[in-house]
Order: sequence, then C-alpha cells, then structure tokens
Amino acid sequence: MDIKNLKKQAQKELNLLVKIDDLKEFEKKYLGKKGKVTELLKSLKNLPQKERRLIGKEANELRDKLMLAIKAKKEEIKRNEIEEKEKQEWIDITVPAKKIEKGHLHPLTQVAEKVEEIFMSLGFSVIEGPEIENEWYNFDALNIPKDHPARDLWDTFWIKEPSTKNQEPKLLLRTHTSPVQIHYMEKHKPPLRIISPGRIYRYEATDASHEINFYQVEGLMIDKDTSVANFYFIMEEFFKSFFGKETKIRLRPSFFPFTEPSFEIDVLCSICKGKGCSVCSQRGWIEIAGAGMVHPNVLKAVKINPKNWQGFAFGMGLDRLAMMKYKINDIRLFYSSDLRFLKQF
Ligand code: DAH
Repeated sequence: MDIKNLKKQAQKELNLLVKIDDLKEFEKKYLGKKGKVTELLKSLKNLPQKERRLIGKEANELRDKLMLAIKAKKEEIKRNEIEEKEKQEWIDITVPAKKIEKGHLHPLTQVAEKVEEIFMSLGFSVIEGPEIENEWYNFDALNIPKDHPARDLWDTFWIKEPSTKNQEPKLLLRTHTSPVQIHYMEKHKPPLRIISPGRIYRYEATDASHEINFYQVEGLMIDKDTSVANFYFIMEEFFKSFFGKETKIRLRPSFFPFTEPSFEIDVLCSICKGKGCSVCSQRGWIEIAGAGMVHPNVLKAVKINPKNWQGFAFGMGLDRLAMMKYKINDIRLFYSSDLRFLKQF
C-alpha cells in the first residue's frame, strides 16, 4: 500500500477517535503484531535494496509519528474524561442552603424560666407540686373551710372516683399553686424560700382573659421575723428585673383566707406609664399578683409554730406576666398551637 495513503487514512481515523478503547483498537490495527505499519515494515525485506532504504525510512517515520500521535491522543482523551467528570460533579456553592427548621421553647416556658432565674438569684429554690390534689391541700389546709364562701372563688374540676363512694378527701385538679406551700412545709422546716411554677385548672367559660387552664407561680418565704418590708423588697426586685428598672409596684389591701393581711400587687402600666390607657382600663396600674403574710392557721396546719415563724406568700399568673411583657391581648393564643403566633418568640 502506498505509504502516503496509509498515513492519510491513519490520521483521519485518529482524528475521529474519542474513546480509549477505540484508541487501543487503532493502535492494534496499525502498530500491532499484524498491524498495517508492522506488516509494511516486515515486507521491506522483499524489496530491492534501493527501494528498501527509501520506503524503509518513510515507514519508520510513519511508525514513530503514529506512536507519538497515539500517546498525545491518549492524554487528550484522559483530559476530556476528567473535564467531563468535573462538570458533572460541580457544586454551586452560592445556592442558598435548605433551612433547617429549629424549634424553640414556648413563650410561657421562656417566661417561667426567666422568673425562676430571678428568684433563684434571690435565694429561692424551685419546687414542683402535683396537678391532681385533694381538697385538704387545695382548700382546708389553706384555711378555706368547706362552707367558706371563698371556695366559690375557684369553680373546680372535681375528679369522680366511681369505685370509692364517699371518698374523703375528694380529688380535684388544683385550682391554684398554693397547695404546694402546704406540701413543702409538711416536709421542710423553716427557714424556707421557695417558688413553684405550674399548671392550674378552673371551671370557667373561656374568653380573651380566661382559660380553663393556665399557669401560676407560687412563692413562699418563712423565717424568724420576715416582714411586709422584706416582702415588698423581694417583689420590687423581681418586677424590676422582669419588666425593667423603671417598673414601679404598689400594694393594695385585699382578702385571701390563707394570708393576713392580704394584698393585691399592681405594677405600673408599661404602655401608658400610669396615665391611663385601654390596656390598663384607664387605671394606670395593672393587677398582677395576690399576696400576703401567711395566716397563722396555715402554719398551724403544717405544725409550724406561728409564734416562732412568720413569712409571706404570693401567687401570680405566668400568662398574665407573659401577656404584659409581650403585649398579648388574648390568653387563648398560648394554647392555640398556632405557629404564626409561636414563631414570634
Ligand atoms: N392562690 C391565689 C389565687 O389563685 C393567689 C394567691 C394569693 C397566692 C395570695 C398566694 C397568696 O400565695 O398569698 O388567686
């Protein structure tokens, strides 16, 4: 075969190659044992010497060129393969990542934790009590006897126990956190300082300011000569830490069977600063807690001698605290599980 044609043909075929397997095939076809160029070189010996030299030179050149071209092609194919791979594996690091949704604590839990933190810094321990109580803890021990009109203050969820008729004392869902005072004083001797946040239950029609269950935090401090002055100081410290330094409080006389004297604690309305607005019903102050000096009968019920020990107690709504802090006008939002509401905290 004409060497020039052979060369042209090889060149043409080589140019069209894209796969490494085809290149191997090509190499075999031209340079393999029975390859075209190999055959050509083998056949040289049959030629007359003059021709042999001439054709031999060209054939050898062709072989060398092909070898080099195959090597170059091999590299080219490899390079292309890598480029192709890189293209497929390319990651756009500027694309915004998928957001991982993180949950957070419920606003009431956040408020409870804040309240606990402040009282702990004032030397109080945090105690929990049961949500199912018997009437002795919820009423009697707190100086609320059976026929006392104060029992009407707390319309109650009683728990029926069909198996035991005339069950005494009767069970109920606690209507306030005050029974925790009794549990604690039964087991611990004064001096003592505790708070107890927790859920309570009332049998009521719900509206923007009433729920059938909500949260309270109870407080109790008993010592040798704890006075109203100590009480006032602790309360002022607490409300200033919770609502801000400029917060003011005031005490109003009130009545609770388990305290004497009893007070209502008001805080200055944070919206109008005392001028009067719709949030505080034009009063300038917002009622936030019930409190007082622990009644001697309560101490007697837990076998603490009121002649040696005295102190104060208070109870406030955590929901009310949260509503004031975050300016929320409907208590039912806390229990609605509405993410549009919850996500704001
Ligand atoms: N237990 C009362 C209520 O649910 C709140 C309360 C008032 C608690 C006076 C107290 C207190 O400890 O001293 O309305």
